[in-house]
Amino acid sequence: MCTIKNMDYKVRFVNPQKQYAEHREEYMAVLDDVLARGDLILRKDVEDFEKAIASMVGTQYAVGLNSGTDTMFFALKALGISPGDEVVTVSHTFIASIAVIVQTGATPILIDVKDDFLMDVDKIEEAITKKTKALLPVHLNGRTCEMDKIMEIAQKHNLFVVEDAAQALGAKYKGKMAGSFGTAGSFSLYPFKVLGCFGDGGVLTTDNEHIAEQARLMRDHGQKTKTDIVLFGWNSRLDNLQAAVLNKKLVHFPGWVAKRREVAKIYDQGLAGVSGVAVPPQQDEDHFDTYQNYVLRAQKRNELAAYLKERGVETLIKDPVANHKHPKLGLDHFSLPYTERLAEEVISLPMYPELTDEEVRYVIEQVRKFYG
Ligand SMILES: Cc1ncc(COP(=O)(O)O)c(C=O)c1O
Repeated sequence: MCTIKNMDYKVRFVNPQKQYAEHREEYMAVLDDVLARGDLILRKDVEDFEKAIASMVGTQYAVGLNSGTDTMFFALKALGISPGDEVVTVSHTFIASIAVIVQTGATPILIDVKDDFLMDVDKIEEAITKKTKALLPVHLNGRTCEMDKIMEIAQKHNLFVVEDAAQALGAKYKGKMAGSFGTAGSFSLYPFKVLGCFGDGGVLTTDNEHIAEQARLMRDHGQKTKTDIVLFGWNSRLDNLQAAVLNKKLVHFPGWVAKRREVAKIYDQGLAGVSGVAVPPQQDEDHFDTYQNYVLRAQKRNELAAYLKERGVETLIKDPVANHKHPKLGLDHFSLPYTERLAEEVISLPMYPELTDEEVRYVIEQVRKFYG
């Protein structure tokens, strides 16, 4: 049995304390400013953040919400997705991408991914039926799906596209930002995302005025004004305090992405040619990847994780059971061979801008030793 304690890790999987220590004074000044103003709910900081995100992603509107989950859910609701409809997505994702479809009352139709961990575009058309209303591609790990092909199929079949860009703020496909291709884009601001707040948060992007307006109403119990309630909604506002922190963090965002890409390059080079390991898809002309996660496909994956743990490297095996294989979710009629194989092979290595080169090299050395 492994006896390592959290404090014994040489390299943590994530390390929010390190980022906080680096920027403590800036963050404390933001918190102090907001608290001194008493601006807590839907104030200027939220508006500023929404403007900044819309401008960065290249959409007309952005709406701050309490999570990436609600962001996708509200987009689907605003599009009228409801019982009897089908939405095509992948199983190789965080369960939220599938859950939001179920929460609308619609049926998720799951298809396989390719070796870049993203929706296999060649499988989309065979999943489309008369009931299909939308496609929900997931830009996993900070890499954007083949959005030109996905949009072409969507147009051909008259389908909406809601991009799950929870892990992909700043990622680009053929020069265009994730979250700007579809009818709506959905981002998570969960603390460990490339841009994360000090709790939960999400932001929706769209060029569609109806979706933006509906999301604003849904996040605040349908209150157009205090005297005019136009729908039954939810409480799903992005906190003003979180928005203020995010505005400050946005200044550092390009540098953080650049550092993640550098770390990925060191991993790529250090792990190239190690038999038993496949590094993630390489950065190429079409893809600007932001490396939300650095995910290996590894033989003897569980043994590798245990070996790394013993040597002080914290890793993550996120989905040891494919989402459609959880017996209680009623999705096990889907047969997705590649997704099922990935559940046995994938392992995420530490990835964040505060990693030192020395730490990255230590991780590489331990992986190499395991397969040595
Ligand atoms: C791919 C994907 N979709 C959706 C979500 C949900 O985002 P949130 O946790 O902000 O609700 C996440 C969060 O981890 C995610 O990784």
